[in-house]
Amino acid sequence: MKYKRENKQVIPAADPRLRFDVFRKAILAASDRVLDSGSYILGEEVKNFEKAFAAYIGTSYCIAVNSGTDAISLSLLAIGVKPNDEVITTSVTAPATVCAILNIGATPVIVDVASPTYCISPEAVKVAITNKSKAIVPVHLHGYAASLQELEQLAQKYSLHIIEDCAQSHGARYQGKKLGSIGICGTFSFYPTKNLGCMGDGGAIITDDPVIAKKLFAFRNYGINKDGLIISNGMNSRMDELQAAILNVQLSDLDNYNKRRVFYAKAYNVRLKEYSANLPPIIDGSVYHQYPIRVENRDEFRIKLLKSGVATNIHYAHTMKHHPQFEKYCKNIPVAEYVADQFVSLPIQPEILDVHFEEVVNVVLQVLKEH
Ligand SMILES: Cc1ncc(COP(=O)(O)O)c(C=O)c1O
Repeated sequence: MKYKRENKQVIPAADPRLRFDVFRKAILAASDRVLDSGSYILGEEVKNFEKAFAAYIGTSYCIAVNSGTDAISLSLLAIGVKPNDEVITTSVTAPATVCAILNIGATPVIVDVASPTYCISPEAVKVAITNKSKAIVPVHLHGYAASLQELEQLAQKYSLHIIEDCAQSHGARYQGKKLGSIGICGTFSFYPTKNLGCMGDGGAIITDDPVIAKKLFAFRNYGINKDGLIISNGMNSRMDELQAAILNVQLSDLDNYNKRRVFYAKAYNVRLKEYSANLPPIIDGSVYHQYPIRVENRDEFRIKLLKSGVATNIHYAHTMKHHPQFEKYCKNIPVAEYVADQFVSLPIQPEILDVHFEEVVNVVLQVLKEH
């Protein structure tokens, strides 16, 4: 599909409609199928998606849930995290990662990140470990793998579990393995703008551990077992059939979409390198959910781009310390503050760049030269 701009002046930073439009016929056919099935929650579409996504990542189990936030909370519950236990996580992420920890009564310990990917710093994790620590939740930020080898060493040494937050890294790899398959659980969001997204809320947990999987299948559905008996506290975090059907339509194309993201990240780097020393690193296995560059006077830079027809985003404008609810859980996070203050995300959605890459990159080059 050729992208037509509604507002002729501005190329958006992201527009999930474009991807759904590519799959429109298949999505409508799948929706018809769901409508006719008479089964709207946790039916065949969900089962098929769970099977296909587990196979895609290479794990034994996938448990489809209602959101990426619930996926983290439920995983923490399943590994036995209790109220007031400490869970160490990163200071550069969507606030949802921290909300998920607080939602089960655990205490988030929010630590600094490290260049060049700005994922959680293993050194900062090490310093933050106490006898209350139970888990580490690294986020594979913008499609880059966190330093899992170092984190695993710490986890082993201090008997901690790793829950990988893969909300931004569907299909990315680390040392040849798909992200999400390395920690005890991997959690995913299918928010519409993600590398794999549905047309509402959706999430999933993957794991190889049968005991944890069994708990999760119960927890997402009130705590119910196969015989209809409530065997634990649970919640309603079920995936509906329409969302699963939409994910089933797109899953086989995820790798192609990711390849195009890699292509555009590399193309940006080649074209912009003369004018910016702070471009995202090209790392094998990454899937470029975002493409953030560092600039001086970011607000001015964004306004200039917008005036020239290119919209941008910031990931994330508020450090965790700025959120009143999170401030008291933050360690010293100077690198995260630098990221929040100085980085801006350029468009990286393949459907947008397939049509507008030259226009976007020329505008960015022009603005960078004059900036
Ligand atoms: C890193 C990260 N974790 C968790 C979430 C939460 O996902 P959801 O919005 O599906 O609850 C997001 C979504 O933006 C995210 O980017």
